[in-house]
Amino acid sequence: MTVIGGSMLDAVKALPEHLRDALWRIESARASTMEAPAAFVCGMGGSAIGGDLAVAALADRLTKPMIVARGYELPSWAPAGSAVLCSSYSGNTEETLACYAAAEALGAQRLVATTGGELAEAARTDGVPVIGLPAGLQPRAAVGYMFCVASELAALALAGPRINTEIDAAASRLTERRERIEAKATHLAEEIGDAVPVIYGGDLTAPVAYRWKTEINENAKLPAFWNFLPEADHNEIEGWSGSTDPAFAAIFLEDRDQHPRERKRFELTANVIEPHARAVIRLETDGETRTERVLEAVMLGDLISVYLAQAQGVDPLPVEGIEAFKRELGRPERQ
Ligand code: F6R
Repeated sequence: MTVIGGSMLDAVKALPEHLRDALWRIESARASTMEAPAAFVCGMGGSAIGGDLAVAALADRLTKPMIVARGYELPSWAPAGSAVLCSSYSGNTEETLACYAAAEALGAQRLVATTGGELAEAARTDGVPVIGLPAGLQPRAAVGYMFCVASELAALALAGPRINTEIDAAASRLTERRERIEAKATHLAEEIGDAVPVIYGGDLTAPVAYRWKTEINENAKLPAFWNFLPEADHNEIEGWSGSTDPAFAAIFLEDRDQHPRERKRFELTANVIEPHARAVIRLETDGETRTERVLEAVMLGDLISVYLAQAQGVDPLPVEGIEAFKRELGRPERQ
């Protein structure tokens, strides 16, 4: 069952089905292997985060650089012949369209993931392989698809192993644990209450912390912030000492694979922040493989954001602020 349309809650709960459908769509696209010096995922927002999550899941199994490029350009040092995935749910995001053109100028080997729009049109004209995504979701709810597509890019570019079996196992596990994850999310949303969440990750959980922040922004329409350790210990902890009216809830996302010194840092950082925060919440990811752990942590955060939206009495689905901003910006004169 693939849930398309409907509520944000339905879409978030359908993550396991999205993962399985994504694997099938990737196989159907029959994209060829690309012998490439580096791999790039170009995209914005909900279409970019899958790249960060895939890089985190693959971690030291990556044998070549795999970079997520958010913006209008590829890095100046991007080698010719790189494998470039242009990922845009709508197919109309100007930054991603600009990267698609920049990738051609670089002599890159391109791959596209989209539901349609200008990106699909250009790719079809240029003979670039397209992994077709199902329409009817909010781009951020297609995170499972974007994760799978970015993982496939690593395999196609011979930058890492193909992790389809891991993804499939993660999907089964998420189906099995769905109710437990929902219950945990309900409890955590209550614990956060009306505090402003500040989410800390590290290593595997750094992009997860960022995902939680953006999901709370877009679904609950609330401010939320994130950072990662060890970096935050070198600057942000100092700022907490000035938080005299604690409005923030600090959330720490830990993982069993983290460096032992990082574990100690999480502990100490939580202690430093505690007197200045409304709540300190410490969590550890669950699952055997990194893929299982990253995906379950994403689903947990996505659910929390929807429950925070419900508590606010707002519909998590529309993002009128983002849409209005895109309208105000207008179309670029030339791509
Ligand atoms: C909306 C969302 C946004 C979009 C972003 C790019 O749900 O998550 O962050 O993903 O504005 O648009 P697309 O994904 O269509 O390229």
